[in-house]
Amino acid sequence: MVSVQTTIGEFHFDNCLMNAAGVYCMTREELAAIEQSEAGSFVTKTGTFKERKGNPEPRYADTALGSINSMGLPNHGYRYYLDYVTELQEQPGSKPHFLSLVGLSPDETHKILKDVQASDYRGLVELNLSCPNVPGKPQIAYDFETTEQILKEVFTYYKKPLGIKLPPYFDIVHFDQAAHIFNQFPLTFVNCINSIGNGLIIEDEHVLIKPKNGFGGIGGDYVKPTALANVHAFYQRLKPSIQIIGTGGVKSGRDAFEHILCGASMVQLGTVLHQEGPEVFGRITAELKAIMTAKGYKNVADFRGKLRYFNN
Ligand code: DHB
Repeated sequence: MVSVQTTIGEFHFDNCLMNAAGVYCMTREELAAIEQSEAGSFVTKTGTFKERKGNPEPRYADTALGSINSMGLPNHGYRYYLDYVTELQEQPGSKPHFLSLVGLSPDETHKILKDVQASDYRGLVELNLSCPNVPGKPQIAYDFETTEQILKEVFTYYKKPLGIKLPPYFDIVHFDQAAHIFNQFPLTFVNCINSIGNGLIIEDEHVLIKPKNGFGGIGGDYVKPTALANVHAFYQRLKPSIQIIGTGGVKSGRDAFEHILCGASMVQLGTVLHQEGPEVFGRITAELKAIMTAKGYKNVADFRGKLRYFNN
């Protein structure tokens, strides 16, 4: 029997597939549906200090090749999600979870993380350094100085397992610089990638979403090559204790297989989960297992990071 189980830090997951933050994770009801699906875990919608309504609708659109969104960080506030994962962790058979968080300022981020540190929550935190959709706020992770400063401060008080959600980088020097910063910290994982920020999709003569005159984060088929490159670039550069979560353009078992080949220990589904719903985990798990069986791989560790190049 082939197995798709995996680990991140000290946590064991029966399935390496899960949702990507932002999809099927806004409410307890949506999160419960992922918990009950074949997914190995869930990550919550990124929680901010206070609840937010987000940007005006329409703020998400599916296209033939993927999706565009400018949600504007609508969420119920971090306590809503912290309470839910803390409650779930006490239930027998509960999966381990990821709590996605960020403040609208470094101060807010620290207030939130200090509260999580003081709480009973024992699971993983994903600090979102890559939200592209709050008007007037740049992505933290494109500012290396601020990123380093935030992480330096965070690890003075935060002692539970923590990883970061990254935007795509597009330059080899940026991979080098970012990895140099991340390697200085006891991160449990990095998650590559968030949507490709501020794309524009047009139908006839009109934009597809209302906020920012149509500009929004791009997901789906459009982003897979960029996602694979980021997963592999960080797999090559980060110390072995920092694992990689692969996100971007996964809609088949083959896509998940490619993320794992590039070095991903867990693979997240965004656009395809929005389009197909939680049943997608069963389909993609079966497709991934069929590929592994055909190739003689018994578990994901057998081929993780084993991407083959020319000349070696
Ligand atoms: C939103 C989008 C993101 O890509 C993200 O990381 C966080 C929030 C949003 O628009 O809600």
